[in-house]
Amino acid sequence: MLLAQLSDPHITAPGTQLYNRVDTGRHLREAVAALLALDTCPDVVVLTGDLVDRGSASEYSHLRDLLRPITDAGIPLYAIPGNHDHREAMQAAFADQPWMPRAPDFIQYVVEDFPVRLILLDTWVAKKPYGELCDARLAWLERALAAGQGKPTIVMLHHPPFRTFIEGMDAMGLKAPERLAAIVQRHPEIERVLCGHLHRPIQTRFAGTLAQTAPSTAHQLTLSLAPGAEERYIIEPPGFLLHRWSAATGVVTHTVTVGSYSGPYPFGDA
Ligand SMILES: [Fe+2]
Ligand SMILES: [Fe+2]
Repeated sequence: MLLAQLSDPHITAPGTQLYNRVDTGRHLREAVAALLALDTCPDVVVLTGDLVDRGSASEYSHLRDLLRPITDAGIPLYAIPGNHDHREAMQAAFADQPWMPRAPDFIQYVVEDFPVRLILLDTWVAKKPYGELCDARLAWLERALAAGQGKPTIVMLHHPPFRTFIEGMDAMGLKAPERLAAIVQRHPEIERVLCGHLHRPIQTRFAGTLAQTAPSTAHQLTLSLAPGAEERYIIEPPGFLLHRWSAATGVVTHTVTVGSYSGPYPFGDA
């Protein structure tokens, strides 16, 4: 099973650029093209939040247009909200998708169609940059995990439940991550906890499994580990994650860089 994780595309209305500088639509178009050009076609694509930048209907419509080559290629596609999304607008934009829960519920659901179950969580809090899993969402997660009866599982949510040492982002991470950790700890079948939000690939051990964030398909967050560092973005090469699972190996993750680079070349003198 090959899972492609695209994150934080921050799509704006057609003809506009994010911060008057970043053409996030072009970046997503290039990421989708790179994904479809892989020598091994992903079985499934998941977008881990901040799908659009301001949560408007025109942004979501633009997003759906940009994602169409994936579904046209027959690859199933799922999404969860990030802090830049708007839950009701996202529900409306994906209302034709059978996986989309109906308003006013949370946008969290289980994908059972693959050897690894995907449990997709909604950490969205209205008008807040941080994320939260309230009592209702955590209780739902407990039930979803119990229903899997130990089958290999990947849990996905926008806000990472761990400290990254990028201070500005840690202040807007997942609130009370220990509550999620207590549940994950009881389920060794969880192969990964996969997140977005950071616009950088970062990994750590978490509650007996591995938690990691994905790069953005557009702009990246400046790497600043100094306390009090100003939070800024940078046009480093964008990318996405590819998670390859087999029963013998578990999940093996590759970071894919999107862009045009010299090569490939055979080894040996030119
Ligand atoms: Fe983001
Ligand atoms: Fe975010």
